Amino acid sequence: MARVLVTRHLPAGGLDPLRDAGHELIQRADDVALTHDELRSAVAGTDAIVCLLTDVIDADVVAAGAKTVKVVANVAVGFNNIDVAACRDAGIVVCNTPGVLDETTADLAFALILAACRRLSESERDLRAGRWSGWEIGQYLGVDVHGATLALVGYGRIGQAVAKRAAGFGMRVLHYARRPTGEVGYVADLDAMLAEADVVSLHVPLTADTHHLIDAHRLTLLRPTAVVVNTARGPVVDELALARALEEGRLFAAGLDVYEREPEIEPRLLAAPRTVLLPHIGSASVATRTRMARLAASAAVDVLAGRTPVNIVSADA
Ligand code: GLV
Repeated sequence: MARVLVTRHLPAGGLDPLRDAGHELIQRADDVALTHDELRSAVAGTDAIVCLLTDVIDADVVAAGAKTVKVVANVAVGFNNIDVAACRDAGIVVCNTPGVLDETTADLAFALILAACRRLSESERDLRAGRWSGWEIGQYLGVDVHGATLALVGYGRIGQAVAKRAAGFGMRVLHYARRPTGEVGYVADLDAMLAEADVVSLHVPLTADTHHLIDAHRLTLLRPTAVVVNTARGPVVDELALARALEEGRLFAAGLDVYEREPEIEPRLLAAPRTVLLPHIGSASVATRTRMARLAASAAVDVLAGRTPVNIVSADA
């Protein structure tokens, strides 16, 4: 029986693979995030860690667990919260939850595309605040989604799932990826793709290469009628530059689910016109969050049993 630190409460049934394998679960009774110091003390002497994207597993935490921990299983597909190289050097396997959240996250990305293009948040806000005095011909005019050119930055599983939805809306779909995909719509030059886009949707992981991939310069390449949607990771976009582009009317709208300093939201983004801002709910359906927890738990069980799970993250990923 191994000792498994589970940093937060997980959806019902999510930890069954660990329970069924007879492992001891170490969890706080309250569902409060551990501070960095608490995390460091909590990992000492455990065999496995099941954590969330809000837990920072940096070199200090890895060092604290290095003697005993064999696996860190992140209940998220993104793993920028984990120092994967430090884990590798300490012989700790890192796992994530690819595949099980693609469709749910693509649904949310599409919801943001629709909401941002058609100004759903601001028009609903006005209605609720009693500011709507009746139908007018020039009111809340948005941009059409059907027939628009959708530029997908990143064409992994989630990007492809968004492309399928876009086809149903009659969109023209382009995609950029680091390597040629061999698929219709591939564009090798990100800047050239941005210049053609009506809607840009981001689907790349956060790495040193993708930090501020959409920066002040790239925002100038977009049409003033373009819409930017981010369901990937906040730091892929320079938030201040995005806010400035919206304020100055150089961009029509933005739909964001992720931010540079979560849960802090850049005040200029909050004040910027035509923004739809969601609290990082891309994968937030009951079924998907349960699948994510089970996948992470199963991966921990596999590593503890000496098996190789399918969802291992490598330091060069
Ligand atoms: C959510 O943001 C995830 O990475 O799973």
